[in-house]
Amino acid sequence: MPTIAYVNGHFSPIEQATISIEDRGFQFGDGVYEVVRTYGGGAFRLHDHLSRLESSARAVSIPVPLSRTEWEALIREGLQRSRYGECLVYIQLTRGVAPRAHLFPSSAKPTVVMTFQEIPETGGALQRQGVPAVTLSDLRWGRCSIKSLNLLANVLAKQEASDAGALEAILVKDGLVTEGCSSNVCLVKDGNIVTPPLSDQLLAGVTRAVVLELARKNGIVVEEREVSEEELTRADELFLIGTTIEVLPVSRLNGVPVGERVPGTVTQAVRDAFQRCILSETGGEPG
Ligand SMILES: Cc1ncc(COP(=O)(O)O)c(C=O)c1O
Repeated sequence: MPTIAYVNGHFSPIEQATISIEDRGFQFGDGVYEVVRTYGGGAFRLHDHLSRLESSARAVSIPVPLSRTEWEALIREGLQRSRYGECLVYIQLTRGVAPRAHLFPSSAKPTVVMTFQEIPETGGALQRQGVPAVTLSDLRWGRCSIKSLNLLANVLAKQEASDAGALEAILVKDGLVTEGCSSNVCLVKDGNIVTPPLSDQLLAGVTRAVVLELARKNGIVVEEREVSEEELTRADELFLIGTTIEVLPVSRLNGVPVGERVPGTVTQAVRDAFQRCILSETGGEPG
């Protein structure tokens, strides 16, 4: 079964999908994106992802060429065409094709690209064992709340983490934790969840919003406040959250074991609540 792509009105197998080399997404990273996943074949929290896509696009003055209904219909069609069990849907929206010049082109039409990729069945192995993470300097720009295509600093940090045997880099700016390269970060101290507050320094994760709401509903105190790197190293539990990883415990930070067992009690409670939420909203089994 081929992976399906959608480019500006046309579905095709991904190998046949092309965009112009003058696309500003390629030339400048001048675009925004979203990643959505399915459970039971249905996209989880699609409205939240489309809202964020619209606000990212608004923040960089890229007109969104499709209505909510049109996005939904296209995503449904892509999922049907892909026929995978569960999919990751990547949506990319760029300022369009124009001769290379920094200024916004006066007449470019935004480019819409989507891919529908299979999510391999893992049985949640990583989520049970936890993963190693390292802290690294956050070298990104000042508007990380925009889900922009400019991911070079994330790519470099993720590679550095991987070279150090870790799965994620937790980024630190001016001594304070921001987020992971592709995740939000929570620590647990004395039974409370602590996570950096929303700001220009981090993405307002869809998973973050769901998880924090579920935690509060389950009687867990959630503190959204600044977290120092030093506080991170003293955490009882540490976990990463995001669309693709769901709730992922960190087993070692900079080579040092985190807490007494993985997953810790609070992490497990949050994960269980998240899984119940997925099941009730989509009818699909969590990953
Ligand atoms: C930098 C960054 N932070 C946080 C997240 C988590 O966001 P979400 O839960 O919406 O997937 C992601 C997801 O890709 C990300 O790239």
